[in-house]
Amino acid sequence: MPLSVEEIRKDFPIFERTVRDGKKLIYLDSGATSQKPNAVIDAESDFYRFHNSAAHRGVHQLAEEATDAYEGARETVATFLGAPGGSNEIVFTKSATEALNLLAYAMGNAAPGSRFALEPGDRIVVTEMEHHSNLVPWQQLAQRTGAELAWFEVTPDGRLDLSALDTVISHGTKVVALTHQSNVLGTINPLDEIVRRAHEVGAVVILDACQSAPHMRINVEELGIDFLAFSGHKALGPTGVGVLWGRINLLENLPPFLFGGSMIEMVTMTSATWAPVPQKFEAGVPNMAQAVGLAAALDYLTKIGMDNIHAHESALTGLLLDKLLAIDKVAVIGPTSNTERGSALSFTVSDIHPHDLGQFLDSQGIAVRTGAHCAWPLARRLNVSATTRASLYLYNDEQDCQALADGVVAAQRYFGSF
Ligand code: ALA
Repeated sequence: MPLSVEEIRKDFPIFERTVRDGKKLIYLDSGATSQKPNAVIDAESDFYRFHNSAAHRGVHQLAEEATDAYEGARETVATFLGAPGGSNEIVFTKSATEALNLLAYAMGNAAPGSRFALEPGDRIVVTEMEHHSNLVPWQQLAQRTGAELAWFEVTPDGRLDLSALDTVISHGTKVVALTHQSNVLGTINPLDEIVRRAHEVGAVVILDACQSAPHMRINVEELGIDFLAFSGHKALGPTGVGVLWGRINLLENLPPFLFGGSMIEMVTMTSATWAPVPQKFEAGVPNMAQAVGLAAALDYLTKIGMDNIHAHESALTGLLLDKLLAIDKVAVIGPTSNTERGSALSFTVSDIHPHDLGQFLDSQGIAVRTGAHCAWPLARRLNVSATTRASLYLYNDEQDCQALADGVVAAQRYFGSF
């Protein structure tokens, strides 16, 4: 395996504990949230211990240190994403969900006729494999503006059906919002054709990178996209911090989302003007400790190397696919080939409800996620009410994959399903 998991686990205090009466923790739920290395826990706690103050608001030393730490974190994120316009293209939010809502709400605030205004006859394109957080905000925007919502369907093997690409992304399309890697299927979507067509019709491409940015090298310029969102807590960082990246000229043209302190340039009793980006989108005292923690997480990932992490997860995914597919009555929901796929792996086991399976696995110390994974339309399309999902990260190894496979077979025995 490309990474030394034994060494890596020493950095994560949670692996020192046991679960369910002394069992080793086998954590296969990083798609929901990742575990945190000491570097992140220390960075966040050091901020509170030694530098805590409100960034951008004081002339005293602590305020200066807090501002430097917060703005330094922005630089780290910009470098991590290869933002061509530097740190001014990075907006901190409380989550990826908020970043995506920011875009949808801000577009809803656009003056009629302006760059981002939507109206009847315009189209928003999504996909059937979106997490609710990259679907519902666009449904709502379509309802508010009269724009039409259209989508790419998903094929039975869990890929996007792009056969009608030029029809789905029609001439009236203003927004194409899609996931980079499905949180359910693990599918990594092909972006080149989609981006080319979207730009041909003048649409912006918004990428939900929650399940990709923590696991593979991302360069927004190479991807050719216009906006990207990801969450800190899935990338070894703290909860309560998300990132919106946008091209500087687009962010400058986008109206604000939240209003209040910090995001203004000038205020009278009846009007206000806005601060330059990114401050225009960061109303209120920011989530400084969380941003600092996120920067520590990205530094940690970068030091290990995103390509190494991707290679490690890819090798493990291939192994886990083989192990699960070899078990009678197990069906993988999503790509069964290990190409253009990440390490989120959903499956069903005949005659065992995923919640029962999840509980049984938990009794063995194995943490997985069960349910529809915040993607109900996808579950309906694939005719499954729920699945069991294992999602891997840099601290997982072959033994974890073997434990899951053994756990599934043991569950079949326990529930009498052969
Ligand atoms: N969106 C997270 C997941 O897929 C919570 O599990």
